[in-house]
Amino acid sequence: MELKAIVYTSNTGYTAQYAALLAKKTGLHAYTLDEALGKLPDGAEIIYMGWIMAGKIQGFITALKRYQVAAVCGVGMNPTGAQLTVVRQANGLHEDMPVFTLQGGLNMDKLHGFKRLILKIMGGSMGRQLMAKQDRTPEEDAILDMFRNGGDRVSMQNLKDVVSWYEQETGKKL
Ligand SMILES: Cc1cc2nc3c(=O)[nH]c(=O)nc-3n(C[C@H](O)[C@H](O)[C@H](O)COP(=O)(O)O)c2cc1C
Repeated sequence: MELKAIVYTSNTGYTAQYAALLAKKTGLHAYTLDEALGKLPDGAEIIYMGWIMAGKIQGFITALKRYQVAAVCGVGMNPTGAQLTVVRQANGLHEDMPVFTLQGGLNMDKLHGFKRLILKIMGGSMGRQLMAKQDRTPEEDAILDMFRNGGDRVSMQNLKDVVSWYEQETGKKL
């Protein structure tokens, strides 16, 4: 099998940014899941990227039904590389499935309705817990800052493990 494309689902744009960066680096085309369902043949081998909502990588189940997912990236607000076990469990990922977590960002202005409400509640309760902590780690400070001020943490650097995986998988040197 040969990797054919990157397929992604993004709500506020951070996952779309990662898909574009990875597409540029690898030369693969990046499709939104909706585009892919119309254009990409069933069974094509893909890298799937989806934003994380309440632990679940959005669109992943649909992608898995149609395509051969070679690796999956979950984009959330936690630091890149964190919560791999949690994400694996929450999404029922087989241990053979390569999985990467990438830090996206938070933009309250782009959130509406129930998603905005949930985030406000999450931010409120996590914020209070973290504020009450005496010995916050730099990561916890970063999360607190993200909830308070929003922020864009998308970078090529965050994709380095994905790129290494791709190089190993394809034998190409990028
Ligand atoms: C309702 C809601 C629930 C979320 N749940 C999680 C979560 O469980 N874990 C996480 O790391 N990020 C969570 N996030 C943060 C998003 O995954 C993060 O903002 C991500 O960068 C969004 O990507 P997008 O711009 O591609 O939509 C949540 C965001 C919203 C709005």
